[in-house]
Amino acid sequence: MTPARRACSLKITAPTELTLSQTDGSEHPVHPLWLRERCRDAASMDLKTQQRLQDPSDLPLDLRLLAVSQPAPGSLRVRFSDGHEGTFSAEELLEEATLAPNSHDCPDPQPWDGSLSPLPRARWQAAPTETELMSWLEAFLGFGFVIFEGVPTNPGTVLKVGAQFGFVRETNFGALFNVRSTPDATDLAYTAVALDPHTDNPYRAPVPGIQLLHCLVNETSGGLSTLVDGFAVAQALRAEHGAAFDILASTPVRFKYVDAGTELTASAPPIELDVTGALKAIHFSPRLDFVPLFAPARLEAYYRARQLFDQRLRAPDFEIRFLLKAGDLVMFDNCRLLHGRSGFDPAEGLRHLQGCYIDLDGPRSLYRVLRRRLRASATVRRSA
Ligand SMILES: [Fe+2]
Repeated sequence: MTPARRACSLKITAPTELTLSQTDGSEHPVHPLWLRERCRDAASMDLKTQQRLQDPSDLPLDLRLLAVSQPAPGSLRVRFSDGHEGTFSAEELLEEATLAPNSHDCPDPQPWDGSLSPLPRARWQAAPTETELMSWLEAFLGFGFVIFEGVPTNPGTVLKVGAQFGFVRETNFGALFNVRSTPDATDLAYTAVALDPHTDNPYRAPVPGIQLLHCLVNETSGGLSTLVDGFAVAQALRAEHGAAFDILASTPVRFKYVDAGTELTASAPPIELDVTGALKAIHFSPRLDFVPLFAPARLEAYYRARQLFDQRLRAPDFEIRFLLKAGDLVMFDNCRLLHGRSGFDPAEGLRHLQGCYIDLDGPRSLYRVLRRRLRASATVRRSA
């Protein structure tokens, strides 16, 4: 899986014009300021940190290109009207120009439903090769989850796995939380009741991006873990009930968590879109959501839309179920996937999971760094 890129090319279309051409036939000149901001010479940026030395807002707004040439294949030389000259790699410019505006430059989400088979599983290695790590990241970024098998069941190991992909986020539950039924539970997760699909901690700002759940012991026959691709369900809702989708994407809902020493609230629409209108995150937890007191007609429309969404989230055609065995660890995108579990009988035996949160940027950064390294070593092998 590779990030979605628009196929493009760069052409010198006039002595003072560089044009971006797309395969759909559309083309437009490259804006002089866009190019000028990307000058990578020592006068324009600190070569060590790759950060700009000049505030680009100080560049003249009427900047023009005075000359464009191609001194060597793949290299572009540009003289600007502020007197500066820059040399650009056409490949690097295209790499950025062809990226979709809202892309994370990581593998695109691959929507899935209840028919997903096989599930993305990997044998855990404490010291994986870069190629193994890359395959784990591709599965995680594409499907939104990966199930690791053979993770040592020593308590606290989930923190080591989290640290492999990012930085563990400490919360009022601690860096690590135990999921097992306890008589004095402060959250329904710590009981034996079934949990419908939900995202964790929508009452935080920011919401934890990724959850890891590591099974240390499971002696019960119930307690199946469930996952639903919230993006796939939201896309289905958008296709079938556009008005309901729009209501869920535009209604701010307040999520709350309260205990003796904590009071957390945050507002978000159940379906959050980015500025391009693409899906950004799902915020859904029927135990914790409180819609503001809008006029009755608006609330009626909201409740109808939420019911449609919830019915699909709970439908077996979108849900996968699996038993987490001792040594299994599931890592999932808490902004895209909803998770839950079937109820279990604590009299059958112990069910003990340990969990932690990391942020979404960790695996994304690791993916890009590994891609850079693997490309560099491929280039060295080719030129050897
Ligand atoms: Fe949860």
